[in-house]
Amino acid sequence: PPLYIITPTYRRPEQLAELTRLGYTLKHVVNLYWLVIEDAEEPTPQVTKLLQKINVPFSHLVAQMPAKYRKNKVKPRGVSNRNRGLEWIRANASDGVLYFADDDNTYDVEIFDEMRYTKKVSMWPVGLITKFGVSSPIVKNGTVVGFYDGWIGGRKYPVDMASFSVSVRFLLSRPNASMPYKPGYEEDGFLKSLSPLKLTEIELLASNCTEILVWHTQSKKNPNAMSLDMGKYNNTNLVHLRN
Ligand code: UGA
Ligand code: MN
Repeated sequence: PPLYIITPTYRRPEQLAELTRLGYTLKHVVNLYWLVIEDAEEPTPQVTKLLQKINVPFSHLVAQMPAKYRKNKVKPRGVSNRNRGLEWIRANASDGVLYFADDDNTYDVEIFDEMRYTKKVSMWPVGLITKFGVSSPIVKNGTVVGFYDGWIGGRKYPVDMASFSVSVRFLLSRPNASMPYKPGYEEDGFLKSLSPLKLTEIELLASNCTEILVWHTQSKKNPNAMSLDMGKYNNTNLVHLRN
């Protein structure tokens, strides 16, 4: 069955670096379709070029964050993009598995082979996240009995976006499933929109959640990167400085 990888992305100095790293990871995976969805008015040409160069089967779409959220201090990051990805899947896919892969995380290719057999929803741990260092389902006798996460926030599913996959057939059986524009509650809202779903139906990967195959990494921002962003720069403008 095909894997549909939904990646929200947005224009910033790190964008091409993040997509390069993720793209060459995905290149190790067979039967994968990459939905790269920019939070932008228009697709960024440098991104299109990079996707063509990496040569993983892809669609490059746009879905801008609605203006009313853009001025918020805490923004619903990647939500319009992911909902656009779900819309694409509803229109174009009939089986397989979907996964929300943010552009900045780190993925062991093993997780893609494991998630491919998801019947409804699969889950696994995420490393390097919150002050707890890891977020994971708590497993007893092969089923989820709770969640270990640095921030519970009254959520039914206190999990990270990178910690679960959903079968396309299951998504299609839930025509109203979508992600809410609710910072901090995107994962919880989306998973709840898939109900009914019993905790005992959640398939546990990464050896019953004992291995970390996905990390919530973040690139360090370089304050000087603005003038050198998006791949090409004018080398002749560089001046040699002594320090
Ligand atoms: C954490 C979670 O891992 C995200 O899945 C969740 O969307 C996010 O919190 C949230 O709730 O806001 P975090 O590392 O804090 O992620 O967020 P980012 O990596 O900055 O953004 C998540 C995704 O959205 C990335 O793929 C990023 O490229 C994209 N994004 C971010 C946009 O499309 N637009 C933005 O304005 C910001
Ligand atoms: Mn991130």
